[in-house]
Amino acid sequence: MTSAASAAFAGVYGRPPELAWHAPGRINVIGEHTDYNDGFVLPAAIPQGVTAAVGARTDGLVRIASAQFPGPPAAVRLDDLAPGRLPGGAGYAAGVVWELARRGLPVTGVDIHLDGDVPQGAGLSSSAALECAVAGALDDLWRLGLPPATLVDVARRAENDFVGMPCGVMDQSAALLSRAGHLLFLDTRDMTTRHVPFDPGAFGLELLVIDTRAPHRLVDGEYARRRRECAEACRILGVSALRDLDPGDLPAALARLAPPVASRVRHVVTENARVLATVALLTEGADPRRIGPLLDAAHRSLRDDYEVSSIELDTAAESAVAAGAYGARMIGGGFGGSVLALIDSDRRGATKDAVRNGAARAGLPEPAFLTVTPAAGAGPVPPRAGSA
Ligand code: GLA
Repeated sequence: MTSAASAAFAGVYGRPPELAWHAPGRINVIGEHTDYNDGFVLPAAIPQGVTAAVGARTDGLVRIASAQFPGPPAAVRLDDLAPGRLPGGAGYAAGVVWELARRGLPVTGVDIHLDGDVPQGAGLSSSAALECAVAGALDDLWRLGLPPATLVDVARRAENDFVGMPCGVMDQSAALLSRAGHLLFLDTRDMTTRHVPFDPGAFGLELLVIDTRAPHRLVDGEYARRRRECAEACRILGVSALRDLDPGDLPAALARLAPPVASRVRHVVTENARVLATVALLTEGADPRRIGPLLDAAHRSLRDDYEVSSIELDTAAESAVAAGAYGARMIGGGFGGSVLALIDSDRRGATKDAVRNGAARAGLPEPAFLTVTPAAGAGPVPPRAGSA
């Protein structure tokens, strides 16, 4: 691991760590609010992530420290671990330990030190990065031998059942299964993946993340409400998941549903179709500019049908497109966070200026920017030959 991660661990715990894992945050090119509907997603890992350095304990104590929250580590006995017991970032790490123990795996206690550079609250899945870094590190530390797909499930269960956020499986999959230079095409029904090569730089393009820096509002409650609305639609329509509907089924399905459930269904069904269209274009080697209209359509659908956008997200997407972006859309759960724009690399400065000015004119916070390239999924630091 880096000497900085090792020194930070030693500074807190007075001994060197045994090993460390890094797991990335993610963007999502397309496929939003489809992952809990058995649908398709197309995320990618980003270079920013979380590193978890760990050292085993044999006394059943779990201690968690973070460079982002200096101070004494949070400490809890394995026997006392229970949902809601630890707030904040420590809760995500503790949830992973709890989930491994719940599966009957030999969990003995551990010291954990976390350090990350994923902007918080930007919709780039810093929490999934944290969970996955800890899951990978603990699997390695305790020689559990869990396959990546199981680590995805462990991290996702930690977030669902320990933290209490009813997220789907996209973020943890992106953090653990991504490949550098590729987008991760994931079918969340059967969890099959395809790594789709994506090199916008070869076309003079890049992906610009616009972090609106708007406070998240009501995210958790609204997210859970959307899930309930989708479940309600499935009950009425007699399908096991919205994935079972094709665009051709929409007129008949919508006729049986009342607002807002009808528009939620329209979003999910058309969004799945947009993911497939995007993957088809990229697979045939098309100029990535051609996915721009699909990104714009996804934004409109999230704004008007799924109603998870915000004035900050809409303003950023509109300003980017007005400045020449080929497509721009909100990413992640919504109600704040980031917009992803596909732009000509030589328009980066002009796009940023336009987005900044757009926010200022609307009286909104000044956005922050990040240019991202598809990065590798989680792994030990430094990388080791033959490790998971
Ligand atoms: C959040 C969740 C994901 C996914 C997105 C919306 O990021 O954690 O599982 O549902 O929202 O696509």
